[in-house]
Amino acid sequence: MQFNHIDFDTYFKNYPDADGFFGKYGGSYIPQELQTAMDEITEAYYTICKSSKFISELRRIRKEFQGRPTPVSYLERLSARLGNVQLYVKREDLNHTGAHKLNHCMGEALLAKYMGKKKVIAETGAGQHGVALATAAAYFGLSCDIYMGAVDIKKQAPNVARMKILGANVIEVTDGLQTLKEAVDAAFMAYCKEYKDAIYCIGSVVGPHPFPMMVRDFQSIVGIEAREQFIEMTGELPDAVVACVGGGSNAMGIFSGFLNDPVDIYGVEPLGRGPALGDHAASLAYGSEGIMHGFNSIMLKDADGGPAPVYSVASGLDYPSSGPEHAFLHDLGRVKYDVISDDETIDAFFALSRMEGIIPAIESSHAVAYGIKLAKQMNNGSILINLSGRGDKDMDYIIEKYGIR
Ligand SMILES: Cc1ncc(COP(=O)(O)O)c(C=O)c1O
Repeated sequence: MQFNHIDFDTYFKNYPDADGFFGKYGGSYIPQELQTAMDEITEAYYTICKSSKFISELRRIRKEFQGRPTPVSYLERLSARLGNVQLYVKREDLNHTGAHKLNHCMGEALLAKYMGKKKVIAETGAGQHGVALATAAAYFGLSCDIYMGAVDIKKQAPNVARMKILGANVIEVTDGLQTLKEAVDAAFMAYCKEYKDAIYCIGSVVGPHPFPMMVRDFQSIVGIEAREQFIEMTGELPDAVVACVGGGSNAMGIFSGFLNDPVDIYGVEPLGRGPALGDHAASLAYGSEGIMHGFNSIMLKDADGGPAPVYSVASGLDYPSSGPEHAFLHDLGRVKYDVISDDETIDAFFALSRMEGIIPAIESSHAVAYGIKLAKQMNNGSILINLSGRGDKDMDYIIEKYGIR
């Protein structure tokens, strides 16, 4: 399919280019010493991603350890309530550890093992990436340091306990807003000191090359499975595909299965309390081009041009930038990016729980809310929503803040 002169038949061969660029976005803006470490990771990845040994090991892990393929479920009662549009969800909540994050963590940890590294380092917001990496580290016998903002440590206590039980060191970050951006800052600093023995396993399609590409490739299993399953279930493609976007890994995972199809694709960012700077984390909706954490993308800036303070009810979405490939697809117009507020999110959280028996993560509830909104605008057709994770981690917080509705 051609879209704004981009040929999606050959898209994955051409994007990113050899320097990690998706058009003008992406790249690697880091000190030379770290660049040498990134080049090593890039080279190792290019070798193993073509190796049948690595591919078959990853396939075995996905099947026997993660429980893949995850199913696609038809939301019969919710669809009936909304009218004539049929809603479906790709069940990444049923992936082992409860979210899509394990898809890239098992790949990253397998790469660490191949490279002879003894340790994995990462940041986490909602704790899902931290839990997934702690799980991968336990599986492969690697040590694991997870950096997490003090605010998120309080908010996502069950995931902190899980990481500790799995044997990870959870390191509290008390700088700035004490959330995801500061956790990334701290993990990056630690990696600068430890890159000889450790790999920084970035938790989304962000950071310097090769991470946006590598994490996308590991997550593409979501889109490959979902496309096949949807056609098997309905005999056709969905009319629309929807996913929430923090850094953008679950979204790139499912989108990559449909970029070359006549399917409308929607990325959903968190509008939080509203459109004023500081009240949301909708970088693609309100941001401008800028570099942070080693990559060029579209980001929210403060008055000095640095990363702006951000907020979302979803700890996993409150990041002031998003993956460079999303910025590229945004500018191309291939993916439409839109926003969902905290209130709409919480309504969707309860709607899916009450009408379908599925408790979604607050992050994923943004996508569910958008799917519901879209269904009300469409006369007929089908919508596939990526349910990136389950809401066990959020239940205490929701009950405390919003009560049982
Ligand atoms: C369940 C879930 N969905 C989505 C996200 C957002 O990350 P990404 O945009 O990389 O998919 C997170 C992050 O922690 C998450 O836990």
